[in-house]
Amino acid sequence: MMQDNGRPGPKTPVTFKILRYKPGAIDPPRYDTFQVEADPLMTVLDALEEIRAAHDSTLAYRHSCHHASCGTCAMKVNGREVLACVTKVLEQDSAEIVVEPLGTMPLVADLVVDMGDFARRYEPAGLSLLRPSEYLPQAQTPAGVAEYTRFESCIECGICLSACPVANTNANFIGPAGLAAWYRSWQKEDNPWAKVMAAVDSDCGVWGCHGAMECTAACPSQVAPGDLIMYLRREVVKSKLPWQRAM
Ligand code: FES
Repeated sequence: MMQDNGRPGPKTPVTFKILRYKPGAIDPPRYDTFQVEADPLMTVLDALEEIRAAHDSTLAYRHSCHHASCGTCAMKVNGREVLACVTKVLEQDSAEIVVEPLGTMPLVADLVVDMGDFARRYEPAGLSLLRPSEYLPQAQTPAGVAEYTRFESCIECGICLSACPVANTNANFIGPAGLAAWYRSWQKEDNPWAKVMAAVDSDCGVWGCHGAMECTAACPSQVAPGDLIMYLRREVVKSKLPWQRAM
């Protein structure tokens, strides 16, 4: 049954098919179907909140900021990894929206995955958040603030890991975010080259990447991890050439 959600603007009926499953539960995986009246501003996260409030309070999903900053609402919408909080329902141009959890990482319940797998691959680079190379000299700062500091763009949403065809089949592959972090940590001189080489010069590192660039295409934060993997691969090759610098 559809309910008026009280939001302004014309409404378009949309069917949501949501994958439901909790590992270890008796019930096998299934798709539950819900009808939602979508207005032009409604996001997929808005729709999930409406479904949870009006139809099924057991639906599990994660969110926090509602503005593409925290990375917690990442999921698959019609087969594509997105941030649900900034993905407009009607912009999917489909009367049916299929919502599923991210891939690669273990499922916790419904649309929630265990991000520990993402952290396991990403954290060894030890990347700090500051990115001092991105100071904007033209920026106007408030009184008492000398300059703004640019932070790393990665919001650790896990979308790149889910979209990566290699990570989906190789649990030991460092993955897009992890390899991008190793490259950034070397650029920033947080990690010496010998440490970076020891971490990435293998089939579970830069040589495991197939160059599909699904990670760069899916990244909602313009980190372009696939590009950074290619830069890192180039540095690995250069460092092995006898006439190149000693690192
Ligand atoms: S809720 Fe924070 S990124 Fe979507």
